Amino acid sequence: MPREQGFTSESAMQEALYAFCCQALAQDLETQDQVSCLLSGGRTPLPCYRRLAGTALPWQRIQAALVDERWVPGDDPASNEGNIRACFADNEDFLANFLGMYSAVPIGTAVADCNRRYRKLPRPASFCLLGLGPDGHTASLFPHAEGLKSALTSTEPCAALQAQGSAVTGPHTQRMSLSLQGILDSRRVVLAFTGADKLAVYQQALACEDPLALPLAAVLQQAQVPVHVFHSP
Ligand code: 6PG
Repeated sequence: MPREQGFTSESAMQEALYAFCCQALAQDLETQDQVSCLLSGGRTPLPCYRRLAGTALPWQRIQAALVDERWVPGDDPASNEGNIRACFADNEDFLANFLGMYSAVPIGTAVADCNRRYRKLPRPASFCLLGLGPDGHTASLFPHAEGLKSALTSTEPCAALQAQGSAVTGPHTQRMSLSLQGILDSRRVVLAFTGADKLAVYQQALACEDPLALPLAAVLQQAQVPVHVFHSP
């Protein structure tokens, strides 16, 4: 069962999320020379990234990598890599080590290269920070996406998916994502979300028997890695 913490305000949740991420990195840096952490895009984690960016940690020893990406270049406003780099704009050591997913080749061709680069990260990661979509997607594991079944069973860290177009995907249906195994090769999985609609989806996923319909269920219902849930209205 996930370890769930509900907060009465988003700012209280952000505070706790930031403290959790700092502590996870600090704890693992005590025993490992190099650590990694896996960062989702989306709006929710950005305040946490901005605070982490200004935190005195040995960033030369921390290799951060993306959880997922829309297939657009880094200067596109929809680029997760671009948005995360902007949060860490003043942290040169973070930027020097940050591993993105996008390259200017078709996504099907890029997946082998992503896997090669992600296999070099120090694993397990200290944490994998996930968001949640109102449709039950997490990372870029979208309901009924082409490639989802393989992303849930593959032993490779990354997977290319073609999501079904919806209001949630917008025009960005081509996605690179950590596979389920890529997410779970972490000491801690962290899920952070806000809003009553997402809380309802989260609760549905706890009991859902079909991860192809609600991919979050695959993350919540495994026993391999503890899942820490932070949520607020
Ligand atoms: C992405 C994501 C995705 C995100 C959720 C929640 O690129 O879209 O990484 O999984 O975490 O869609 O997004 P918000 O935090 O913006 O609601």
